[in-house]
Amino acid sequence: MSQGLRVIHSAIPAQCYIYSVSSFVTHLLKGLSIFNLLVGSLEDGGGIALTVSFDRVAHIFDKTRGLPPHIMKKLVNALTAELKGCRTILDAGVGTGRFAKPLQNKGFDLVGVDISSKMLERAHQKGVKNLCLADARHLPFRDLSFDATISNHVLHLIEDWKAALREITRVTRSILTSTTYGSPNPLREAYEELLKKRGFEQRRLGISEAELKSFIQPLRFMVAITNMPVNVDKTLAMFDEKACSHQWDVPNHVHRSVMKDLRACFAGKIYYRDVQILVWKTETLKRYLKMSNTSSS
Ligand SMILES: C[S@@+](CC[C@H](N)C(=O)[O-])C[C@H]1O[C@@H](n2cnc3c(N)ncnc32)[C@H](O)[C@@H]1O
Repeated sequence: MSQGLRVIHSAIPAQCYIYSVSSFVTHLLKGLSIFNLLVGSLEDGGGIALTVSFDRVAHIFDKTRGLPPHIMKKLVNALTAELKGCRTILDAGVGTGRFAKPLQNKGFDLVGVDISSKMLERAHQKGVKNLCLADARHLPFRDLSFDATISNHVLHLIEDWKAALREITRVTRSILTSTTYGSPNPLREAYEELLKKRGFEQRRLGISEAELKSFIQPLRFMVAITNMPVNVDKTLAMFDEKACSHQWDVPNHVHRSVMKDLRACFAGKIYYRDVQILVWKTETLKRYLKMSNTSSS
């Protein structure tokens, strides 16, 4: 842990790493054991359900994922409008604080959790005040601690994503919002196709927020950014570095050969993407989780 991060021991067991929290967070915390913080939890059936930490790409995350400042500004303004009436916000899978920092600047009391201490360190360096090393499937907060939760690009990394949703609905009074792309990244699809041709099938762990929308009806759904141009060469540079979690299991020699084909097809082109904001009522998510519990039992 870096020297800059403060570990609070007062209200909670010492083994829980709470990074630099302000006083409003301490009363939200419930008693914890170290097991809350383990990556990989025991499912009911006794198997280990996986989740993916971004420790290995924390140093390049902002460089590879950053949106142009004017797009980010528009997105944060739209998100702020969706969060109207909310004061306390949880960012589940906060990462480097890409959304947390601007929302904190807008005046929200925001707490970020993540399983990656390296991503949290980046968020801390940017000035995100309340950060907690914790798993979204075992949140260290009391019931209904937050008015809203935001979670962006996280559920696809959690095998038992319903456990994360269950925890989010436990600690959230009103709404869950997600910012996501309107359609899959065409380059990612091409990368997967080229892998398939080489005999590698990519395993999908969780569910994307965009997929979630197709079977849990959001309260609101808006296209915040339309036809955002993306330079293929920038995406290729990101893929080159194996910056995306779907690439991490691909052997290097296969990766290099796929990249060669990808570059030959796409280099120099532009593609366009929409960015959406999805808003679900906590109650709707709870109803879905209850129903899917009943139907699987
Ligand atoms: C793709 S990044 C997105 C970060 C941030 N939400 C953003 O949009 O910039 C996904 C983040 O989720 C975190 N993560 C993965 N599984 C998690 C879990 N079970 N609980 C909390 N965070 C998790 C990763 O460590 C990573 O920082």
